[in-house]
Amino acid sequence: PTIVFIEPDGQQKSVTSVTGQSLMQAAVQNGVRGIEADCGGSCTCATCHAYIDPQWAERLPAIRALEQDMLEFALDTNAHSRLTCQIQVTDDLDGLVVRIPHAQA
Ligand code: FES
Repeated sequence: PTIVFIEPDGQQKSVTSVTGQSLMQAAVQNGVRGIEADCGGSCTCATCHAYIDPQWAERLPAIRALEQDMLEFALDTNAHSRLTCQIQVTDDLDGLVVRIPHAQA
């Protein structure tokens, strides 16, 4: 599935992801800027934070308590904030748009 990341400076980067990997892994593997993922995906760092395009919200897995707690440490969160290591790529997410906050530049 193709995931469209919008980097902190507004540059758009479309990457080809693999079903079952996380959005964070797809970003890191493709050198997307602004996703540091310091903890490697164990939901303990919040540096993989991004905004998910609202049109896609319903297709995402629900936020679990651990993700919710960690989001408090992310920069500039809003109603569309998620931790990208907690979202697995599915075929259903082909074309998903993920924006990385300016604050993570
Ligand atoms: Fe650390 Fe997602 S990679 S919380």
